[in-house]
Amino acid sequence: MQTAAIKTVEYDHPQEGTSCTARAWARTPAPLAPHEKAALKDRIRALLKEKQAVLVAHYYVDADLQDLAEETGGCVSDSLEMARFGRDHPAKTLVVAGVRFMGETAKILSPEKTILMPDLDATCSLDLGCPADEFAAFCDQHPDRTVVVYANTSAAVKARADWMVTSSIGLDIVQHLHAQGKKILWAPDRHLGSYIQRKTGADMLMWQGACIVHDEFKGVELDLLKAEYPDAKVLVHPESPDSVVAQADVVGSTSQLINAAVTLDAERFIVATDNGILHKMKLAAPHKQFIEAPTAGNSATCKSCAHCPWMAMNGLANLAEVLETGKNEIHVEPAIGQEAVRAIDRMLDFAAAKKAKALPTGALEQESKLFAGIGPA
Ligand code: 13P
Ligand code: SF4
Repeated sequence: MQTAAIKTVEYDHPQEGTSCTARAWARTPAPLAPHEKAALKDRIRALLKEKQAVLVAHYYVDADLQDLAEETGGCVSDSLEMARFGRDHPAKTLVVAGVRFMGETAKILSPEKTILMPDLDATCSLDLGCPADEFAAFCDQHPDRTVVVYANTSAAVKARADWMVTSSIGLDIVQHLHAQGKKILWAPDRHLGSYIQRKTGADMLMWQGACIVHDEFKGVELDLLKAEYPDAKVLVHPESPDSVVAQADVVGSTSQLINAAVTLDAERFIVATDNGILHKMKLAAPHKQFIEAPTAGNSATCKSCAHCPWMAMNGLANLAEVLETGKNEIHVEPAIGQEAVRAIDRMLDFAAAKKAKALPTGALEQESKLFAGIGPA
């Protein structure tokens, strides 16, 4: 496996705006009293109707936002399904409760729609760690490689890519490209890239970004916790380090992990991903027990402690405010959007074809005919 130089971003040191995690935490909405919550939820329900808008939320955002999304006919899901749902929903206005790349993906797929977000500064360490100009220079040095980027990137980085993938389908797409003999340039998450590389054996040249939330899970500590709960199954998001992924019973996207919590024959689970997911897991499997995977030793501090500071910027009050005022609209430069949409469409077409054939993971290399029209020129 080849790698690019490690890109260091000091997220916990003071720097401009909310790219500093401390500033992002300082901007997270204050806790609300029950009567304040109830009033805001009523207002949001009414505003969604009045503005004919739909709420599309990620599993890491506040539990009240997740519930509201489902209750009002929107969706709460992983990033692949958020993109597909937003594109296919007839509403003219989408409110995306998540982080910026999710809002940008929605805009790129539906330039005619109005896309609003509760806080436009809700970013992602993977996006911050992969500046478009440096990434373009990296691609220029390797013109022989098919460029595959994770969804957690800017519109400009996607514009430079042949394919965009999410954690739920990245493995299948790289396996498909590898079967076609393609060499891959992968960005930005080094852990997800390394997991996919090990599973597929593909030739992958890696950008060296990381998610600050998942990067904090510790293999050694997880090993100790497993010894305490030998009956527990371990669910791991692939943005986690190799030492954590190696101990997983299931590795997958947020939706895939929730599905595993419901379907696996176990009563107890250790969960290595943002703890916002526990809300849905507990609702979906109420009689089961969920334990957060350890982020560090007992005395250590962490930047996120298993919760994304940028996801946490989404709250009931700022959601109501954007619906009321129409502020915080996502804009993507049309020329960039037109370039970026090719990489996203390829993934969505691939996912739809996979679903139509109900292909099991690993069966894709035999299916090259199915995807003959999809892929870089
Ligand atoms: P999923 O696509 O698995 O929901 O992941 C998105 C994300 O940002 C994880 O950190
Ligand atoms: Fe980005 Fe990690 Fe937050 Fe997901 S959890 S949005 S990858 S920083």
